Formats: sequence, C-alpha cells, structure tokens
Amino acid sequence: MKVAVLGAAGGIGQALALLLKNNLPAGSALSLYDIAPVTPGVAADLSHIPTAVSVVGFGGEDPTPALEGADIVLISAGVARKPGMDRADLFNVNAGIVKNLIEKAAATCPKACIAIITNPVNTTVPIAAEVLKKAGVYDKNKLFGITTLDVIRAETFVAEAKGLNVSDVKVPVIGGHSGVTILPLLSQVEGASFSDEEIEKLTYRIQNAGTEVVEAKAGGGSATLSMGQAACRFALSLVKAMQGESNVVECTYVDGGSEHAQFFAQPVLLGKNGVEKVLPYGDISAFEQAAMDGMLETLKGDIAKGVEFVNQ
Ligand code: NAD
Ligand code: LMR
Repeated sequence: MKVAVLGAAGGIGQALALLLKNNLPAGSALSLYDIAPVTPGVAADLSHIPTAVSVVGFGGEDPTPALEGADIVLISAGVARKPGMDRADLFNVNAGIVKNLIEKAAATCPKACIAIITNPVNTTVPIAAEVLKKAGVYDKNKLFGITTLDVIRAETFVAEAKGLNVSDVKVPVIGGHSGVTILPLLSQVEGASFSDEEIEKLTYRIQNAGTEVVEAKAGGGSATLSMGQAACRFALSLVKAMQGESNVVECTYVDGGSEHAQFFAQPVLLGKNGVEKVLPYGDISAFEQAAMDGMLETLKGDIAKGVEFVNQ
C-alpha cells in the first residue's frame, strides 16, 4: 500500500507522516510532497525511525513523482485559519491549491482513494469531485472529506463530561465540517444520558472546537496534532478496509449517500474500493432534527461554491 501525503511539511502533514511511519502495516510506502523545500529533509528525518515503512520526500512545484503508484492520497496542503477567520475565509487560497493537486492526482494515480483535510472541507471536496469529473476519472466511492477530528473531539468531550472511559465512547458526527454543519448525534451515545443543557453545551463545544484551538494558538495556526491523529485513524481504517478487513466504519464526508445534500458526512462502511456502503445514521432526536434543518442551507451553499469554482 502506497500512501501519499500532500502538504507533508506542514503542521498536520508532519504529525500525520510521523504517525503513519509508525502505524502503517509493514511493507507500506509513504510518499511525502510539499512545495516547501524542506520536504525531502522531513522524509530523511522520518526514515531513521526503525519501522518497516519506506519513506521518500519531494519538494518543488510538481507533485507527480510523489503521486506515482499511490493507492491513497491524503491532502493537507493549504493555509490554516487565524483568529477572527471562518473556514470559508480560506477558500480563496485553498480552492486553487486543491484544484491543482487533484488535477495532478487525476493524471498520475486516477484509481487512488483521495481524502481531503484542507479547509473548507465542505467546499474543497466538491471541487475535487468536479476536477476528477472533468478529467473523466471520477469515482465517488474513492473521494472523502476527513471529518474524523469532529468524531474524536466528540468522543473526548463526552467522556470527560460523563466520566466515561474514552475508548468505550462512540459518537457519530454527521453533516459537514464547519460550525453549524457539524452535527454530533449525542442521542446515540450508549451508556450515557444528557440533560437538555448538557446537549446544547456539548454540541456547541464540538461545533466550535476548531475555533477553540485557533484562539488558543493565537495566530500560530489551527489544530495540527489532533488532526494528525484523526487523519491517521481515518487513513489506517481505509488501509485496513482496502486490504480486505470487514466491518470497517468511519464517519466521512462523501458524495451521493444522503437525501439531504449531494455531499454529506455520515457513517460509511469502507471496503476494498473505498466506499462500500453509505450507512443510515439512524434515529435522531428533535434537537438534532432542528439542527439538521438549520444547517442544510449553509451546507448546500458551501457545496455549490465548490462546483461553481471549477465550472465558472
Ligand atoms: P500549515 O500551514 O502548517 O501546512 C500547510 C502546508 O501546505 C505547508 O507546509 C505548505 O507549504 C503546504 N502547501 C501550500 N501550498 C501547497 C501546494 N500547492 N502543494 C503542496 N503543499 C502546499 O497548515 P496545517 O495546520 O497543516 O493545515 C492545513 C490545512 O488543513 C488547512 O487548510 C487547515 O484549515 C486544514 N485543517 C483541516 C482539518 C479538518 O478537520 N479537516 C483540521 C485542521 C486543519
Ligand atoms: C478544525 O476543526 O480544527 C479545523 O477545521 C481547523 C479550523 O480552522 O478550525
């Protein structure tokens, strides 16, 4: 299995590459790319860690050498938020970066599974879909927006609030990856019940946890370490499923599985070719239904912006 990380010299990219070097199955290859000239050095640094995962790094303008033969492409290239910004404020810079990188992936590794971290995820994933369609290689089962950070945050915050063992806590998070579009299904947490006030507070915290980190970093960027962990969890799940393990399920932002919007995050059964089946998210509470109704216009607008960007 060859995994390419684009944006590999950044805060997320380096954390993710370190985790993948230590956790990919023996015999895997890790291929790092970033426009930053330090990237071959990041790879050299990682290559001294004694695991059976090979690692190479490429800098410069062209990601092609890093993409050759890739089975999975993880994209974290782009700019991050500073205090006072919304994720949508990153669109002007990151839309073009994602478009260019996906054009290269379409030409070089058209059968790879592509998972996007770069914000605004609600919009960069539709951009990727449109670029892949134009290149004639789009397979909606192989394109993902990584929303796992919302899931691990929800699990952490619920465990803290309820005094539970965090490894036992499972919280599906559906919708998208920004503000009100992030919808944790607290009504489905097993072994815990919440007052209305707790639900409101926890939901608000999960939806705004990215901003919590942006403000705490005070201009030094957004979540990188927790995102590295989240992206590693998603990537390892994808690797396992692609290698034939059954019952691998992650919440992720995918095309075509929802009645609500063209792209929607919900539990997805992963398989040898990416999405095996988009799973129903089950019954939701009245509070969650109201939150769902309230998010859809925003989510659809975010999606339309990405589609327009590529087709304008
Ligand atoms: P960062 O600035 O630390 O790193 C970004 C890297 O991208 C840099 O090394 C930069 O050189 C590289 N880059 C820029 N343009 C490039 C290009 N054309 N090709 C290759 N590399 C390029 O930022 P970060 O903290 O790693 O965040 C990266 C992105 O991930 C941001 O858009 C951020 O908002 C997003 N993010 C998403 C989630 C999520 O849950 N999906 C969570 C955290 C951050
Ligand atoms: C996050 O949720 O931490 C990321 O999307 C980064 C951000 O800008 O909040």
